[in-house]
Amino acid sequence: MCGIVGYLGNKKAHPILLDGLKKLEYRGYDSAGVALLENNIIKIFKAKGKVSDLEEKIKHVQLSADTGIAHTRWATHGVPNEINAHPHVSQSGKLALVHNGIIENYNVLREKLEQKGYVFYSETDTEVLVKFIEDVYLETGKSLFEAVQLALKRVVGAYAIALISTEMPGSMIIARKGSPLVVGLGKNGEFIVGSDAAPIIRHTKTVYYLDDNEVAFLQKGKEMQVITLDNKRISPLLTELDLSLEELEKGGYDYFMLKEIYEQPRSVYDSMRGRIDTEKQLVRLGGIEPYENHILEADRIIMVGCGTSWHAALVGEYLFEELARIPVETEYGSEFRYRNPIIRPRDVVIGISQSGETADTLAGLRLAKEKGALLLGVCNVVGSSVARETHAGVYTHAGPEIGVASTKAFTAQVTVLTLMALRLGYLKKNIDLNRYENLLCELEYIPEKIERALQSDLLVQQIAREYKNARNFLYLGRGINFPVALEGALKLKEISYIHAEGYPAAEMKHGPIALIDENMPVVVIATKKGNYDKIVSNIQEIKSRNGKIIAVVTEGDKEVARLADHLIEIPETDEMLTPLVATIPLQLLAYHIAVMLGRDVDKPRNLAKSVTVE
Ligand code: AGP
Repeated sequence: MCGIVGYLGNKKAHPILLDGLKKLEYRGYDSAGVALLENNIIKIFKAKGKVSDLEEKIKHVQLSADTGIAHTRWATHGVPNEINAHPHVSQSGKLALVHNGIIENYNVLREKLEQKGYVFYSETDTEVLVKFIEDVYLETGKSLFEAVQLALKRVVGAYAIALISTEMPGSMIIARKGSPLVVGLGKNGEFIVGSDAAPIIRHTKTVYYLDDNEVAFLQKGKEMQVITLDNKRISPLLTELDLSLEELEKGGYDYFMLKEIYEQPRSVYDSMRGRIDTEKQLVRLGGIEPYENHILEADRIIMVGCGTSWHAALVGEYLFEELARIPVETEYGSEFRYRNPIIRPRDVVIGISQSGETADTLAGLRLAKEKGALLLGVCNVVGSSVARETHAGVYTHAGPEIGVASTKAFTAQVTVLTLMALRLGYLKKNIDLNRYENLLCELEYIPEKIERALQSDLLVQQIAREYKNARNFLYLGRGINFPVALEGALKLKEISYIHAEGYPAAEMKHGPIALIDENMPVVVIATKKGNYDKIVSNIQEIKSRNGKIIAVVTEGDKEVARLADHLIEIPETDEMLTPLVATIPLQLLAYHIAVMLGRDVDKPRNLAKSVTVE
């Protein structure tokens, strides 16, 4: 997820652009840049790091341009550096473009352009897009506005773009498909463009939210022209903003954590996007393809992570052993690094980390590297230490996760690990082809099933209200849902400060059941697949000791319904994919209890978003 800003008017553009970027930094902050159109020349300034680094770079430059575009990046293709930072320019240097989204067919487009003599300097899909637009413009001889339309019709993927050109002074072209884009209509015919209204609201409250497949032509002091890719003219329906700036940055949610919980249908989809070839029924993970044979010959896989990422790793253990039949061990980074583990060159070590900077995880990876193991990374930050220090890896495309409590990163990590397990199971021929195809097909429905699981929000709020003053919680799960129980307990602990413990449900009878009484809420993941009958008997054991049971069940469940005090129904899915859906109500439960207790949900006490120290 990145942030784009555009300005077209009678004031100096760069202060407005820089201020706008700062309002969008929550969307991405690994590099930033501006393009300014002045006296028929496009001036570009870029910086690795935050917007303030860019600001420092241009503060002594004399600039008077009143037209410009700007971008703050969350890298998806190409590491965060100045070369990959936006804006990107066309071959002639006459067009400059900023882009938020993923162009899925950028490789194909780039190859064709290279054959025509185009030269590329960055690793980004965006540079391909701007050069492709210019190629269409030159080849067709049409207006730039029409050339943008024609080019976008041949682009596969998601985009929100703003384009300026020396060929059209005092003008800007914007377009969107799959990524948000808003244009504000300011005083005296000025336009302010943003990925959302945050950069716009201080200049004007009159905005137009572009729809997918719309392209708009903005000319200073003139009426905006909006058309669709198939040339239908649109009369833009203007709206008046009534959100505060702070609400806008959180997308209208009270906390980033809730926003990120609700982003999961999209972030899980983005973590699969371009990686499942439905026609050929194939999983494609370009990042590890060169190492697939090495991984297939591995004696075992060691998964290393901390906190929520360790829980994702544990889900990965169940996935890899079930679907690929490869032995897996899951290790806490902090334990692994100090217990003098036996690591052999035929071991593969997978580091799982949202930030890619967790010290304990990195230390475990470095130890494994010293002992000759192959290192893979599953992380959410392009160019992070885990990404740079592993031999290969697969990025999660969850976008920036601002809330300290990890939510969308967890489901994105589990999504990637599921794809890896399916790919390896397929290559090793250890998975029944029918099961493989069914899982691939079912995966495509998971974003929609997460969407449906989110609809339990109001019910979860009522449950939160009833149990927010409990002093202890137990979370129980079996099989692949045991790590989900651990994750649910961690979510509650870290944002509400209530003690909670995750346990394998069958372990209750080995001691913890002594804790059960009417003051102990027990959250049980009791979905239909797996050892359903066994977990029902675990529930009965708790019931007979007056425990309060909050059960996460498969839609339509009747058996647990008779036993549980509260039922949270989620859509049915394959047992191996249940963690992606069953986690949702547990995230919501932790969130609502914490809010009701007045906790600082996004910045809980004693915690940091990335633990870069031992
Ligand atoms: C999860 O909600 C916590 N914030 C924490 O446990 C986190 O998962 C852990 O510190 C690992 O962080 P990483 O994924 O960035 O490596």
